[in-house]
Parts: sequence; structure tokens; C-alpha cells
Amino acid sequence: METKQHFTKDAQEALNSFLAPHPLITHPHHKRKIAGSVEHYLLKENAQEVTKDMLVKALEDCYPHNEPSTLRLKDPEKMMGAIKQQQAVDRENPMVQISCWPAPEAQIAPPAQDVFAFYGGSRKGGNTDCIMDAVLEGAQAGGARVEKVSFCDKNLSPCTGCLGCQNKDLETHCVIKDDMPYIYKRFLECDAFVFGFPVYTGRESAQAAIFCDRLKALTDPWRKTKFKQRRGLMVATWGWPSDSIYEGLVSQMSTILFMFGVEVISVVTGSGFWDAYYQKGTAQLDQEGMEKAREAGRGLTL
Ligand SMILES: Cc1cc2nc3c(=O)[nH]c(=O)nc-3n(C[C@H](O)[C@H](O)[C@H](O)COP(=O)(O)O)c2cc1C
Repeated sequence: METKQHFTKDAQEALNSFLAPHPLITHPHHKRKIAGSVEHYLLKENAQEVTKDMLVKALEDCYPHNEPSTLRLKDPEKMMGAIKQQQAVDRENPMVQISCWPAPEAQIAPPAQDVFAFYGGSRKGGNTDCIMDAVLEGAQAGGARVEKVSFCDKNLSPCTGCLGCQNKDLETHCVIKDDMPYIYKRFLECDAFVFGFPVYTGRESAQAAIFCDRLKALTDPWRKTKFKQRRGLMVATWGWPSDSIYEGLVSQMSTILFMFGVEVISVVTGSGFWDAYYQKGTAQLDQEGMEKAREAGRGLTL
């Protein structure tokens, strides 16, 4: 550390181990961030030296939900255990977990009768798709019409950044000639929007990112566009077996939809889909979770 903080030997080793997977150019940034948090524990415990325990707490504060990097230091055996457990499917005690965030208390937008879903991934019948289908089953049971469009069935190109959408009064919103105009139409007219995507490389899939970038064409340069208020439901899945690790990403994606009039009232996450659990259909191993997903879908109509 380039500050005056003094680290015990094992705290320094733990810090070096935390930094090792990060490129050197990022180390000063991480060190600055960690030093601020470590200072808090030094003051709180009136200590002269940073212990490994304090460092781990500081890392948890600085990198919330980044369980692998802190668990590796705190409890390497547990970390290896989690990785090992994913090598074979245990049908009695599966690693996959489907969870729902607590719903906001306020009533948001009217109950939905027309639910439009967009699957931002390429694995049809994959675990994201499967959880989305459960959500849509629930919405249908609640009396809504449902429609799901999958990125993989459509011709959708990335935004080219031409900003043609900001200068012209385009009926199609965007100058790119692909399948997006139909998606714009359904996205704007539906009463509830369901958005599903898997996590790839620590962020939303490229397909989900393309969709979000293309939404830009719905805004005007002065952000005066008034969108119809609709309900939203987000389905996000990932490999690491913790339901909170990508909380930040899911919040960020919900905020993007919020900019377009969609208030996400339900988040359904699926975690643990890696190694043996990567195979299609393993979401079905968490029957209770699938039922929660159906209930969340039904919630759009209540
Ligand atoms: C290219 C690729 C990158 C991935 N990156 C991550 C990741 O950074 N973190 C994670 O927890 N899971 C990651 N995963 C695992 C997927 O998020 C997980 O298996 C997801 O449930 C796949 O969804 P699907 O079954 O709908 O295709 C990755 C998978 C692939 C294929």
C-alpha cells in the first residue's frame, strides 16, 4: 500500500492475492479504494495495524457481492467446495437457485393485460429462456396475452452511433433496416415488459446490450419523450452460485428500463448455472423457484 497504513504479514499477503488477478495499471485505483475502507476499520477498532480480518471486511464493503474474490481469501475451502459441487448434478440438492427480489410496496402502473417479453440471449430452451417461460405462464394464468420475442429469431444489429434517430422524425425510430421496428412498437404499446438475459463475462449478454443501445432511438435529444408507464419484470441468470453477486448489474439494467417508462416490479434471478448445471433444463431442478417465477409473472396482472 502506498499509504501510511501498516499491514500485518498475512493481511499484506491477502491484499497481494486479491490484486493478483487484476492488471497492474488498475492496482493504484483498487488500493486507493481499499485504503479508504480500511481506514474506517482502523478507527473503529482503534488499531495501529491492518489485520487480514479488517482487510476482508474492507474488501466486502468495496466490492459488494463479489463473493469469489473475498471468499477465496476468507474461506478457500468453502470456495473450492462450491466449485467442486458444480462438477456433477445433484438432483436431490441442486446448486441452482431461482430467487425473487422483494416487490416494491407501491402499486405501479395498472395491471397488465398485454405482456411483451424480449429474450436477450442465444440459447433457446436455455435456463434464462426456461425461467422466462415460467414467468409468462404465470402472466397468462392471470389473464394476460403474452408474446415473447427472442434475439436469436430476429435480425437485430448493434447501434451504429449515427444518431440518425435524434435528427429525423423517423417513423421506424432507427435508420437501421432490421427487425427492430416491430420490437419498438410492442415495447411501447405493451402494459408489461419482461426482459431476460444471461450474464456473460460479468455483465449482461451482448444481445441484451444491443437491445438496450437500440432503445436510445426512442428518445429525443432533449429527453422530453414521455413514455407510457408500464410494469416490468427482469429475469437474469448466471453461473456463480450466489443469488446476490450480480445485484449491481440487475439494478443498473432496471434503471435503463426505467428511463423508458418501465418500472421493474419483479426481479427473478437464477444462479448456479455453470459446469454440470450449465446444461439446458437444470432450472427445472428448483421447482419451488420455478413456482416463484410463475407467481412473479402472475403478479404483473394483479
Ligand atoms: C461466454 C460466457 C460467459 C459467462 N460469464 C459468466 C460470468 O461472468 N459470471 C457468471 O456467473 N456466469 C457466467 N456465465 C454463465 C452463464 O451466465 C449461465 O450459465 C447462464 O445461466 C446461461 O444462460 P442460458 O442457460 O440461458 O444460456 C457465462 C457463460 C458463457 C457462455
